[in-house]
Amino acid sequence: MIKNSKPVLFLSFAVCFIATLALPAEETTLKRKWVSTPPPKIEKGTATIAVLPDTEYYAWKYPELFYAQTGWIAEEALRRNIVYTVHLGDITQHNNHEQWTVARKSFAMLDGKVPYALVPGNDDYDNLENDDWEKLRQSSNIHRYFNPKVISKWKTFGGFYQKDRLENTYHLFRMHDRDWMILCLEMGPRDKIIHWANKILKEKKNHRTIVVTHAYLFRNNKRYDHRNGKERASPHPWGNDGEELWQKLIKKHANIMIVMSGHVATGGIGYRKDLGDHGNVVHQMMCDYQKKKMGGLAYMRLLEFLPDGKTVQVRTYSPYRKKLQISHLEDFKFVLKEGKGK
Ligand SMILES: [Fe+2]
Repeated sequence: MIKNSKPVLFLSFAVCFIATLALPAEETTLKRKWVSTPPPKIEKGTATIAVLPDTEYYAWKYPELFYAQTGWIAEEALRRNIVYTVHLGDITQHNNHEQWTVARKSFAMLDGKVPYALVPGNDDYDNLENDDWEKLRQSSNIHRYFNPKVISKWKTFGGFYQKDRLENTYHLFRMHDRDWMILCLEMGPRDKIIHWANKILKEKKNHRTIVVTHAYLFRNNKRYDHRNGKERASPHPWGNDGEELWQKLIKKHANIMIVMSGHVATGGIGYRKDLGDHGNVVHQMMCDYQKKKMGGLAYMRLLEFLPDGKTVQVRTYSPYRKKLQISHLEDFKFVLKEGKGK
């Protein structure tokens, strides 16, 4: 049991409560309500991807919330046809044994039930003070707790950038009788990673693709862009920021449908769509609930790919609170549109 039940008690009065207070400035116009119900039953033929934003506080202080998320996914996997779970990075806060152990225990609930794709966030690396970026790049303990040799044997595992390391991977699966790929990229991907990703995207040009990287969208639905001046926790010192990633990779490929990121603790939700070079619509979304009570109250995303093969229903749900969180950035639909060229 969670010892501190005060926030839950308080929030239990908040059913259908419209919130505009205590939100970051850019969210002050956001009208949000909570509904005490599980997500509606899916229509037959729907496929679901579950999305876990920054779980760092759960791994550190509130493991019950982490277990609530993956436990719910495992329990609902068949009922909701959950074909993949994606983590947006910052799985842990301190990249240490205790927190990776919680993360591993949490994801163990999905083993053999739902495959998952992970990316490291900045907090999944050591916090080096001497700016030795190459050393920093090697410091994540993710592959010590999620065995790459085991994961590489999954039917859905496509490949690594670097053998037996999980910072950059891709995953292949079928959804609606179509080939899909989830392409996972490190924090602030380096140019050589973008080069690799461009190659994979060309090789898999017939796979509709979801790109996942920890830091991409920033506040106000804009991509991180270092040319705009100081942006909090920018990925640019690591490598390429959101705008650079868009220019060098994302917009170039007709098969990229969705980009997902987390990381932005304040103002931590966003969505935008842009046309790629080939006329495809690229839906870009960000969520990160770590500034909520208890590090996020276990809110997570569900992407429901509806039977028409093109409409995606986005939902935001906490299996801990058993509440849907509803706003125009958290409960909405978008339509997939592929590009013409390849
Ligand atoms: Fe982060």
